[in-house]
Amino acid sequence: SYRLWVLVSVSMVCSQLAQDPKLKDGYNAMGFSQGGQFLRAVAQRCPSPPMKTLISVGGQQQGVYGLPKCPGESSHICDWIRKKLNSGVYTDIVQKHLVQAQYWHDPLNDDLYKKHSLFLADINQERVVNETYKKNLQLLDKFVMVKFLQDSVVDPADTEWFGFLKTGQAKETETLQESVLYKEDRLGLAAMDAAGKLDFLGTEGDHLQFTREWFNAKLVPYLR
Ligand SMILES: *[C@@H]1O[C@H](CO)[C@@H](O)[C@H](O)[C@H]1NC(C)=O
Repeated sequence: SYRLWVLVSVSMVCSQLAQDPKLKDGYNAMGFSQGGQFLRAVAQRCPSPPMKTLISVGGQQQGVYGLPKCPGESSHICDWIRKKLNSGVYTDIVQKHLVQAQYWHDPLNDDLYKKHSLFLADINQERVVNETYKKNLQLLDKFVMVKFLQDSVVDPADTEWFGFLKTGQAKETETLQESVLYKEDRLGLAAMDAAGKLDFLGTEGDHLQFTREWFNAKLVPYLR
C-alpha cells in the first residue's frame, strides 16, 4: 500500500543514509514538492547521520485542501468537490492507498484530520508532541522553504511556508507564526525561527517553475 510505501521509504532512506560512510559527518537535503515534507520526516525520525540543511522546494508542509488547478477559494465547483472529498479521505483504506490523501488537511473537519491522517498529523505533532521529533528537527542548521508565488497546483500555496487555512473555515489563511503549532512550539519551529534557522524564499512562477539562474543564485549557496 502507499502508506506502507511512505513509511517503509522513510525508514529505508534512513537506513541507506546510515550505511553511507560519505555522509557520516552530515549531509544537505533538497526535496521537491511532496519530497519537501517527506525529507522533513526523515530529519525528524532519523538524526544519524545528521541532516544539516533541509530545502523544501514547493513542499506541502501543512498538507493541502484542494485539487491541482482547482482553487477552492475562488471557484464554487472546486470548493464543492473538495467538500465532497472530505468524508472519504480519512478512512483507513484511502489513507493507505492514495498518496495524496496523506497530505489532505481538511480545516472543516479538524478532529478527523488529527485522528486519521496517518502521515502528516503524525509528523506535525497534531496528536501528541513527540519530543524526539522536536529535538531532531532542531538539529538542522537551516530549514529553507521555497514558495511559488503563482502556484496553481498546491492549494493553499501558504503550506509551502508552513502556513495553512485557519481551522473551522476554508477561505482565510494563517502564517506559520500565527499557528498553534508555532505559538505552542510543538515542533521547535519557533525556537528555530528565533535562532535564525528558518528561511522563507518566494519565487515568481507556477509550481516547480524556476530558472536555472534562480536555482544557482538562491539555492546552491545553501549546499556549499
Ligand atoms: C516518536 O518518534 C520516534 C522516532 O520516529 C518513535 O520511535 C517513537 O515511537 C515516537 N513516539 C511517540 C510517542 O509517538
